[in-house]
Amino acid sequence: MFGRVKSLDAILATAEKKSLHRSLGAFQLTMLGVGAVIGTGIFVLTAEAAQKAGPGMMLSFVIAGFVCAVAALCYAEMAAMVPVSGSAYTYSYAVMGELVAWMVGWALILEYAIAAGAVSVGWSGYMIGFVQNTFHVTVPLELVRGPFDGGLINLPAMAIAAVITVLLVLGTKESATVNAVLVAIKIAALSLFVALTLPVIRSGQFTPFAPLGFNGISGAAASIFFAYVGFDAVSTAAEETKNPQRNMPIGLIGSLGICTVFYMLVAAGVIGTVGAQPMFGPGHATLDPGTPALSQACALIHDNAVVCSKEALAWTLRSVGYPFAGWVVGAAAIFALPSVILMMMFGQTRIFFVMSRDGLLPEFFSKVHPKFRTPHVITILTGIFVALFAAFFPVGLLADVSNSGTLFAFAAVSIAVMVLRQTDPARHRPFHTPAVWVIAPISIAGCLYLFYSLSATTIELFIAWALIGLVVYYSYSRSRSHVGRGLSEVHEIDSDVPPSSVPPIL
Ligand code: ALA
Repeated sequence: MFGRVKSLDAILATAEKKSLHRSLGAFQLTMLGVGAVIGTGIFVLTAEAAQKAGPGMMLSFVIAGFVCAVAALCYAEMAAMVPVSGSAYTYSYAVMGELVAWMVGWALILEYAIAAGAVSVGWSGYMIGFVQNTFHVTVPLELVRGPFDGGLINLPAMAIAAVITVLLVLGTKESATVNAVLVAIKIAALSLFVALTLPVIRSGQFTPFAPLGFNGISGAAASIFFAYVGFDAVSTAAEETKNPQRNMPIGLIGSLGICTVFYMLVAAGVIGTVGAQPMFGPGHATLDPGTPALSQACALIHDNAVVCSKEALAWTLRSVGYPFAGWVVGAAAIFALPSVILMMMFGQTRIFFVMSRDGLLPEFFSKVHPKFRTPHVITILTGIFVALFAAFFPVGLLADVSNSGTLFAFAAVSIAVMVLRQTDPARHRPFHTPAVWVIAPISIAGCLYLFYSLSATTIELFIAWALIGLVVYYSYSRSRSHVGRGLSEVHEIDSDVPPSSVPPIL
């Protein structure tokens, strides 16, 4: 079962052979991380976390951030040691064999593609709030929310997914400057939010702290984990990194640290000003975010609670008497969230590309457009699925499903680090996970704990997806695998080289 291992030396030789241009330094990597991480999680899902945990969501942010930090330490050892594309998928291939790698790659599809859908829905919420508050018009809910959220179809979310797909097909290469500007906008928006809300915090708003008990806090942590997803996108840029041995760990852990600080402050700002108590149904029934029951309860109070808002931060600022700042934060989200969608979709095409290059997915997936030099087939396919997810599903469910895939991948990497310490102790490790025999098990336990704190629906969807993955592997991929067929790992033809070697926003 674990027999088909891709040799680490062959993987590294491939990387050498391809000799992609190494252009990213520690600062750019950190910016890449912050650019990929800050998004819908903090701008939108804060409302969902409040509905699940109340003020206790502060603790949820700490728990989710902690699990990410220990997983990041494991990621960093692998990313620095195996500085090649494919992230968790490649590491697993080298250490635990093809089947595990396939399952991890399959789970990463959930992580990246569904996350792109979630961020598209988050963007749509801000866009609609912005249009309504700027032009004082009422947009028909049927066309801007999915069927679980009291609408029919989320057209703006579909539209933004389509636009990003076109940009990726065209191979739009914005400069590092563009990414830096977007990161600056997000940080400025969150700083503005913190600066305006923290001074008017009222301590009474923090009680009851955990109206739904510790289960609520765990559930919110499992959802809000989404706010940290994306830092592993840094590791997928390892092949383009200068001195990855030093810069990769700095990029991973630096971006995570910056984000955690901001999230804590923003959560405190929301709770302390507008309150973050959950809505209850008749007979004090708990209401899950993203359900028709919650949207009906919200409709009764004209969405006048942060847990009902689709643009939590802008709504909070308007409610505490800063309508212009709310407008500015809304505009910042509208401007900056598309870069998160772009990163996620890019990550997805990159994973597909590597899996196709290994023979596990059809070769036409890695077809390169003759003019734009981008993997257009897989980009368009990804775009279609992202648009469909975004059209019909609520942001919370998409985020949760994405989290299930991410947690699986993180756990796999944490196992891989320990296995490799045993099987290949002599290999040069530019970065050692500190106290690996403590950190890696904590990371695995943390991932399992968050995974089981997800809703039952999410876990069922994950299991269904995994079973489909197994069927595809045994009916298609296994017999076509390059490793299985004993083909050489070293790619020499040009079209084998990922056509756009640097994430398009860099
Ligand atoms: N962490 C990213 C976000 O919150 C995926 O949007």
